[in-house]
Amino acid sequence: MTWLVTFDCNVHCKFCSTHQLKKEFPEKISRERALELAHQIGRSGTWVCGFTGGEVLIWPHLFEVIKILKSYGVHVYIVSNGLTLEENVDAILETGVDYVVVSLEASNAQEHNFIRKSLIREKRDVFEAAIEGIEALKSKRKGDSPKIKSSTVFSPESLPRIQKTLKELEELVDVSSFQPITSHPPFSPHQPDEKYLEVFTWQERQKKEAESAIQDIIKNFPQFNTSYFNKIPDFWFEPEKLKCQIRCWSPSLRLLIHPDGQAFQCTENPRFAAVGNVIEQDILEVWNSEEMKKQREEIRQHKNGCICWTQSTAFNAFMEDLPLSKKLPILNKKEVQRVE
Ligand SMILES: C[S@@+](CC[C@H](N)C(=O)[O-])C[C@H]1O[C@@H](n2cnc3c(N)ncnc32)[C@H](O)[C@@H]1O
Ligand code: SF4
Repeated sequence: MTWLVTFDCNVHCKFCSTHQLKKEFPEKISRERALELAHQIGRSGTWVCGFTGGEVLIWPHLFEVIKILKSYGVHVYIVSNGLTLEENVDAILETGVDYVVVSLEASNAQEHNFIRKSLIREKRDVFEAAIEGIEALKSKRKGDSPKIKSSTVFSPESLPRIQKTLKELEELVDVSSFQPITSHPPFSPHQPDEKYLEVFTWQERQKKEAESAIQDIIKNFPQFNTSYFNKIPDFWFEPEKLKCQIRCWSPSLRLLIHPDGQAFQCTENPRFAAVGNVIEQDILEVWNSEEMKKQREEIRQHKNGCICWTQSTAFNAFMEDLPLSKKLPILNKKEVQRVE
């Protein structure tokens, strides 16, 4: 479950369009409904629930909702820009959340703040706040729970410093990772600002440079030697090639909840409409809705003809490395014939 609790944010980043999405998907889920929903998710047997947005730490019901999910044994992670992390450390620890992911674009204020700027009303530098928040979390947590992960967006802009950033952040957090820049309008916040498209979008002439950078990262950081990270250059430069290699099982395994209650299995391909609304329907009703079944069947027959990366494909890549996946028809290599 990916629960996008709000598209509101206290920071403005050059590669994210959450402030535009906020107008289209205003927050409509009340506190009462959010708590009920958490119980429904817990009872449904959901494995993992991730909170993102927008900025999750400004959503007023976050901690109550996580506590309910944890009471059912759901694994929970949150993704934050870190601006208000420090003042929320005690509340975060009380929830029992498993992972706190903090987005860090560099290991120094200047490069980080070039991309990520706190809104003027916040009167706080986002880099300094995120680092202080992480330090506070580390000093107050018991043992290594919650785990703290940094996530850096890899784009032409961060190319010159990506390895240095990953190395230096290893000293600060438990897991230092990166994700490829993506552009997925209209429902996902992953969309660079028009003014900065040049800075964050790869040009064909940069293909060799990007490929060798990924290979270099994999050589120096063996934890990234997985099919997901190896295929990043293909995703950027030859996504068509991946359509036959990467199977989508998004509708079989996940659901995304938007701040207005609409639920999607996919927000990358605009052809896939909402499969229900969690304000009006029980979570299992949404999961088993006619629309969900229709989308599931289309993808099961490989008629979707799309390819995406950060979310479903990262998950696919992870599953591909598990022996279980070889037994699932959706990833069965013998069945790779595509139906266009
Ligand atoms: C949309 S943010 C929401 C959570 C929180 N506000 C934050 O910044 O971490 C979730 C993640 O998406 C990443 N992100 C935003 N725009 C992106 C883009 N165009 N391509 C890839 N990742 C992007 C952010 O860096 C962050 O790690
Ligand atoms: S990436 Fe996160 S912090 Fe930056 S604008 Fe988007 S939601 Fe806000």
